[in-house]
Amino acid sequence: MSESANPVWYPFTQMKLAPSPIPIERAKDCTLYAKDGKTYIDAISSWWVNIHGHSNEIIAKAIAQQASTLEHVIFAGFTHSPAETIAQSLIQILPKGFSKIFFSDDGSTSVEVAIKMALQFWHNQGITHKTKIIAFEHAYHGDTFGAMSVGERNTFTTPFQNHLFEVHFIPTPNDKNSEEVKNQLSALAQSGKVAAFIFEPLVQGAGGMLMYKAKHLDELISIAQQNNVLCIADEVMTGFGRTGKNFAINHLTHSPDLICLSKGITGGFLPMGVTACTQKIYDAFHSTEITKTFFHGHSYTANPLTCAAANASLEILLSDKCQRQLKTIEESHQAFSEKIRNHDAVKEVRQTGTIIAVELQTEENTSYFNSIRNQVYQFCLDEGVLLRPLGNIIYIMPPYCITEAELEKVYSVILKVIERVKAKSFR
Ligand SMILES: Cc1ncc(COP(=O)(O)O)c(C=O)c1O
Repeated sequence: MSESANPVWYPFTQMKLAPSPIPIERAKDCTLYAKDGKTYIDAISSWWVNIHGHSNEIIAKAIAQQASTLEHVIFAGFTHSPAETIAQSLIQILPKGFSKIFFSDDGSTSVEVAIKMALQFWHNQGITHKTKIIAFEHAYHGDTFGAMSVGERNTFTTPFQNHLFEVHFIPTPNDKNSEEVKNQLSALAQSGKVAAFIFEPLVQGAGGMLMYKAKHLDELISIAQQNNVLCIADEVMTGFGRTGKNFAINHLTHSPDLICLSKGITGGFLPMGVTACTQKIYDAFHSTEITKTFFHGHSYTANPLTCAAANASLEILLSDKCQRQLKTIEESHQAFSEKIRNHDAVKEVRQTGTIIAVELQTEENTSYFNSIRNQVYQFCLDEGVLLRPLGNIIYIMPPYCITEAELEKVYSVILKVIERVKAKSFR
C-alpha cells in the first residue's frame, strides 16, 4: 500500500523518508515470510521480544486454551490463577528478598511503576525530601514521560525537554572512570535527597549496546543502598536469559530493590510489563491508611492470555534445551568476536551472553544518526537478514532457537558489511 493510502503511522519512523514497510504474512522460529516470497532471519528477535522464535506452538496453545476459558477480567477485586502462577514462578527465580509482583503493559510502564513506587515509598513514610533520581548517561528506559526523564536527553526527547523531571546523570562505569563514578554517586547519595538510582544492568541497549562490568555496578549498588537510595534494575531488555543467566543481576552479588521486566516475558506473543519489589518496599504501602495505596493500574493489567503466554514462555526458558541453546549462542558469539576483533573496519566488538555488538569504524563519529545505518540495514535485508543497526553499531540478539546454520548466515552477512565498510563501498 502506498504511504498516502496507508492510514498507519509507524513508530520510530520518519514517514516521509522511510521506504514502505515490508508486509509479513507469517513467521516461524527465526524466519519471517514476506508477502513477496522473500524470507528474513530475525536476528534481533523483533525488537528483542521473541526469545523463543516466532509462532512457538507451546505458547500458542497455552494462549488458545486460555482464550476459551477466561480471556480477561478486571484485576482489582478479582484475581485468576494465570496471574498468580506467573507471579509465583517469577518470585522463585528472582533474587532472595523479592516478594511482590505488580503487572503493567510494557517496558515503559514497568519503569513508570518502579519510579512511582520508589518515590511513594519515601513519601508514605513521611520522608518528603527524598525526591531525586540518579540514572546513567546513555540510558534508555522507554518513551513515556517518566521513562524519558530518566533516559539520556537527546534528539528523541528534545521536544519534551521542559516537561521532563530533573535527574542526576552519572557516567556509566568502566575500568578507567569507576573511582570517579563512585565518588559522584556517593556525593549525590549523601545529600539525603535521592530517592532512587535506576540502571540497565550490564548492557545499555538502545544507547548503543554499551556494556559494562558487573563488579562496577555491584560497587555502585552497594554505595547507593548504604546511603538509603533505592536501586531499580531495568531488566526490560536484559531479562529472561539475554545475558546468559535468567537476569543480568544474577551476575551481581548485590540485589536491587525493584526490577522492571517486559519484552521476552511472553516470548514475544503479547505485551506485558512487570515490576517486582522486595518486601521492604511493599511494607511501606501496606497500611490501614487509604492514602498509602499504590494508586496505579491499567485496563489490561495481568490479562489472562498474556499471563498464560508468560507461564508457557518461562517454562520453555527454564528447560535444559533452552539453557543449552543460550550457552551455544554465547560460545558462537565469542568465536565470532575473536574472528573480527582486529579487522580494520571494526572499532570495537562487545559481547555479553547472547548479545553481540559490532561498532563499525566509519568516517563519521559513532552515533544513532550515522549515515551508514540505512545502507547497512538495507544491505542486510537484501541478504535476507533482519538486523537493525543503532547508527554504526550492528548487533545480534537472536531468538534462542536460532540454528547454527542461521547464526552462521547472520555472521557471514556481518562479515560482508565489514568488508564493504573497509572498501568504502557504502556511500
Ligand atoms: C532497558 C529498556 N527499558 C525500557 C524499554 C521500554 O520498553 P517498551 O518499548 O516495551 O515500552 C526498553 C525498550 O527498548 C528498554 O530497552
